[in-house]
Amino acid sequence: MTRTASPKPPRLEQRRIDRTFAGTVADLFPSRQPLEIEIGAGKGRFLLHRAQAHPERNFFGVDYRWRFLKEGVLRAEQRGLSNLIFLKTEAEEIIPHLVPPVSIDVFHIYFPDPWHKKKHHKRRLLKPEFFKLLHGSLLPGGLLELATDNFNYMIAFKAALVEAGDTLWSNVRESRNERILDAGVQTHFEAKYTRAGRDLYYMELRK
Ligand SMILES: C[S@@+](CC[C@H](N)C(=O)[O-])C[C@H]1O[C@@H](n2cnc3c(N)ncnc32)[C@H](O)[C@@H]1O
Repeated sequence: MTRTASPKPPRLEQRRIDRTFAGTVADLFPSRQPLEIEIGAGKGRFLLHRAQAHPERNFFGVDYRWRFLKEGVLRAEQRGLSNLIFLKTEAEEIIPHLVPPVSIDVFHIYFPDPWHKKKHHKRRLLKPEFFKLLHGSLLPGGLLELATDNFNYMIAFKAALVEAGDTLWSNVRESRNERILDAGVQTHFEAKYTRAGRDLYYMELRK
């Protein structure tokens, strides 16, 4: 019996940005279009869907864990999505360097790690300084979309929002168990927690 070679999987590129790169996230895309960023994109399920549905917009997903992100990178490559770029990086590191003030249409942050133990709370992403950074990067009318299944973290990040200055936002919407933006599309964790019957908390803040 002769063995046929199985088709080669597409080459997985882990995109690297040179430290000397003086451009912005927008410069990484072939064309200038409204830009959305997902922080902690995980396996990229949400952005893959959104990028396919909105070729007139650009999408940038960051996550510091390559073992999750590589699935998104592979699928974006297989689907030929030129409006979607994933980058393995730390969000707090990349945003101040690659994202100019007043340039982003939407930030998505879904199910950020809650870091349950009190001694680890300092590792949480959603802190007052980070909210200020995101607010400063958004265009007027731009959106920050948040979701969590963790009630205590939701209370904590609401307190962080107040500390950062909640009057910064022109409108705030909240909902329980109902996605506000792009209802019908779920992230990997959102689908998992929905199946488990957990309560999910959503917030949308408009600059
Ligand atoms: C619970 S998962 C949620 C993934 C995805 N948003 C979802 O809903 O399926 C949280 C993700 O955030 C990433 N993450 C946490 N802190 C981060 C940071 N500071 N910078 C980049 N990624 C981060 C983790 O690696 C992980 O993939």
